[in-house]
Amino acid sequence: SVVCNGSLFRLYITKKQLDERIAELGEQLNRDYKDKKPIFIGILNGAFIFLADLMRHVSIPCEVDFFKLSSYGDEKVSSGHVTERKDLDADVAGRHIILIEDIVDTGLSMKYMVDRIKEKDPASVSVVTLLHKPDATKHYVSVDYVGFQIPTLFVLGYGMDYAQEGRNLAQIYVIEDEADNGDVISGKKIGKTDSVDDNDE
Ligand code: PRP
Ligand code: MN
Ligand code: MG
Repeated sequence: SVVCNGSLFRLYITKKQLDERIAELGEQLNRDYKDKKPIFIGILNGAFIFLADLMRHVSIPCEVDFFKLSSYGDEKVSSGHVTERKDLDADVAGRHIILIEDIVDTGLSMKYMVDRIKEKDPASVSVVTLLHKPDATKHYVSVDYVGFQIPTLFVLGYGMDYAQEGRNLAQIYVIEDEADNGDVISGKKIGKTDSVDDNDE
């Protein structure tokens, strides 16, 4: 267990589970974006570690850029509004865009981000998130690639913070008093058109 800002957290998703799942996501992206030269856009701050690890499994030509948003501040619940803190440098018009998040919780941040990118006329936009809390959705957004679906629990580490601390933890932790709500479920690619033709063995 770890203590972060006075709260106790226990180990929830191990380094081994993260490594295996992220390698699979990288391989799916290599297949789906072959010859498309996508631009990966990491949403700071939370996505920085996931993006860095995911990119080491991506072997197709691509670019990487960042957008910085904030909505939680130092709290455990969403403020309900998004603040833009850094815009993109890349020109996304006509390009295939892959948005990278650590977590889609209420969906507010990702919905904001997708709407913001679509204003810029990309060729396509898809969403990759390491963690998804489907039961917490308040703002619906289509999520194309999910590392792990999790119940509505407050998680920490591997880029995710509690009042800005804990991002440096190498594994994912869950706050102790919420830890009995259920187990992590390994995610899978959700077909953008509900097709069943993905190549999972
Ligand atoms: C967190 C997390 C996601 C977002 C998910 O970011 O990294 O970006 O909240 O929550 P939502 O689906 O309810 O919008 P945060 O605002 O804490 O900023 P940070 O990435 O800098 O920690
Ligand atoms: Mn974030
Ligand atoms: Mg945060």
